[in-house]
Amino acid sequence: MSRGVPVVGAVTRGTTNPNRLRRMDRWIAATHGAELRRADHPVVVDLGYGAAPWTAVELLHRLRTVAPRTRVVGVEIEPARVAAARPYEREGLSFRHGGFEIPLPGRPALVRAANVLRQYDEAEVAAVWQRLCARLAPAAPGRGSPGGLLVEGTCDEIGRRHVWVALGPEGPRTVTFATRLGSLERPSDLAERLPKALIHRNVPGEPVHAFLRDFDRAWAAAAPYASYGARQRWIRTVRDLAADWPVTDGPARWRQGEVTVRWEALAPRG
Ligand SMILES: C[S@@+](CC[C@H](N)C(=O)[O-])C[C@H]1O[C@@H](n2cnc3c(N)ncnc32)[C@H](O)[C@@H]1O
Repeated sequence: MSRGVPVVGAVTRGTTNPNRLRRMDRWIAATHGAELRRADHPVVVDLGYGAAPWTAVELLHRLRTVAPRTRVVGVEIEPARVAAARPYEREGLSFRHGGFEIPLPGRPALVRAANVLRQYDEAEVAAVWQRLCARLAPAAPGRGSPGGLLVEGTCDEIGRRHVWVALGPEGPRTVTFATRLGSLERPSDLAERLPKALIHRNVPGEPVHAFLRDFDRAWAAAAPYASYGARQRWIRTVRDLAADWPVTDGPARWRQGEVTVRWEALAPRG
């Protein structure tokens, strides 16, 4: 129990690695930095930071470069991992025992849950998303604020391949694919890192399957650009893909080996 509220969720494997979530951190800083700066006391939650607190330490460091008032709270459901993280507490960084209820007063400007839902059942995802979205800072249209952000996704052990969903208080907004381009054979290599909501839907008839098929085709068509480097090939590929799919970002992000697409285009059928 935490503050009298039941802890929601289950302990899972604590695998983590230094710098594993750098692509996600950079994207959050770029796309959510203005919103963090707008808040007087922006609180960011690294939910399920794992057996060591590296990802929370790095998130604080990266977000403070764009929003210096940011505070990060690492929340872990396994008490021994909270105890192990405590020596790393410092100004702006603390650790708490808890789960999907998020045992904090107030509404976080950001909740990041990386490699957490992957170990749950697909059927549990919608309820967890709903619960976490309800905890986010609300939108304030009068101030031009879209509200808090939940970033939920999966990556490989060393963070070369990453896919995450970004959700606002109103629900899912976008899906981002991010990769180290030098190690990529084809875009569908990222399929094994799809978040829980999509990984079982990479089958014919589902939108995410059609998207990855089109992505691979565009990549093959852009093969001549490989002589200018994988980055040029990726940029060309995404430009082609954007003719048929609602890509929401532009070349500045594509150069990083990223592409972001509206959630509705990839959402599972039914
Ligand atoms: C695989 S680790 C991920 C560590 C880190 N986020 C990363 O990506 O490197 C997943 C962690 O999430 C924790 N976890 C699972 N369910 C949770 C929940 N409902 N609330 C908080 N932590 C949870 C597990 O105990 C585990 O330590």
